[in-house]
Amino acid sequence: MPAPDFVADAERGETLFHAHCSRCHGKAGSGTDYGPPLIHPIYRPGHHADLTFYWAVKDGVKQHHWQFGDMPPVSGVSPEDVGNIVAYVRREQRRAGIR
Ligand code: HEC
Repeated sequence: MPAPDFVADAERGETLFHAHCSRCHGKAGSGTDYGPPLIHPIYRPGHHADLTFYWAVKDGVKQHHWQFGDMPPVSGVSPEDVGNIVAYVRREQRRAGIR
């Protein structure tokens, strides 16, 4: 997890998301043939807490909600990077009316 005084930046998160996640999760988190949309009610904060993003990046995800296969761990992404990515995804979810 990032340090307690870390302040997440959704703009940085957007850049990081495009570099590391959109290959599977789509340009705007809308999904591809390789991974599910994250701007989706399944991933609302009450169902997938922020912590699940840190786990997903560090350890990967076993296929359980969809039929895309497993998500592999993503290397080269720091806890602060994930914090920024979470801020970006939550902002886009709010804009889509997902809370
Ligand atoms: C190689 C493809 C791939 C990449 C790259 C990828 N993901 Fe995933 N991700 C998946 C798949 C597939 C699933 C769905 C697994 C399931 O639930 O069936 C998933 C699920 C997730 C979940 C849900 C975890 C849970 O507990 O259900 C989160 C959060 C997530 N990804 C975040 C990210 C982030 C952040 C990045 C970039 C740092 C990223 N992913 C990069 C393929 C990918």
